[in-house]
Amino acid sequence: MPRAYDKSYFDKFYRASDTRVRSAAEVERMIRFVLFTADYVLGRPVRSVLDVGAGEGNWLPVLRKLRPRIHYQGVDPSAYAVRRFGARRNILLGGVGSLDQLPLRDGYDLVVANGVLNYLSPDALRDGLPQIVRRADGMLYLEIFTDTDDITGDTRFGQLESAAHYRTLLKRAGLVGLGMHCYLRRALEGRLAALERSM
Ligand SMILES: C[S@@+](CC[C@H](N)C(=O)[O-])C[C@H]1O[C@@H](n2cnc3c(N)ncnc32)[C@H](O)[C@@H]1O
Repeated sequence: MPRAYDKSYFDKFYRASDTRVRSAAEVERMIRFVLFTADYVLGRPVRSVLDVGAGEGNWLPVLRKLRPRIHYQGVDPSAYAVRRFGARRNILLGGVGSLDQLPLRDGYDLVVANGVLNYLSPDALRDGLPQIVRRADGMLYLEIFTDTDDITGDTRFGQLESAAHYRTLLKRAGLVGLGMHCYLRRALEGRLAALERSM
């Protein structure tokens, strides 16, 4: 990991009112959007979620509020986050590159990597995407910003690439897009009408 994802990181970008990236209401709106979009695309309620780079596991309380019996599995390489939230929010120590070594389920209804993938090196992103995709038997929410996006928050990324570059990587990893950072494995593309697809 190039930087420390410690308590001061999460205090700054998640809690301090002048430096946090999203308010609690904005986070909840995003999670509602993702969960209900996945329900709609799958044609049934999402029952299991894998959150890759889960951080402090902030998605869990909102998911539980919306769906009390949902199975949530977080994975994050931050020793701080796992020590503090691992047991109560079900977060395993690990990262994108170690998913195949972790005791995870085979097919999650929803796989999330929110605010994570831009921090990976180009090689780690290229090699890690297929590992993430293999875990999904439903929708994926993969937030990736490009070199034309205006980004706030922790912007200490490496070089951001073009949208075309990321689309190529995502397609090579076996995904079809449905917009708004949402993707399906190609095996499920029959669930989408032609104009519901974004790539
Ligand atoms: C901006 S936070 C996002 C946390 C969480 N996804 C959220 O939406 O609140 C970035 C997270 O990416 C994690 N991270 C960094 N490198 C990673 C990697 N190689 N694999 C998985 N997670 C990683 C960090 O530990 C940190 O928790």
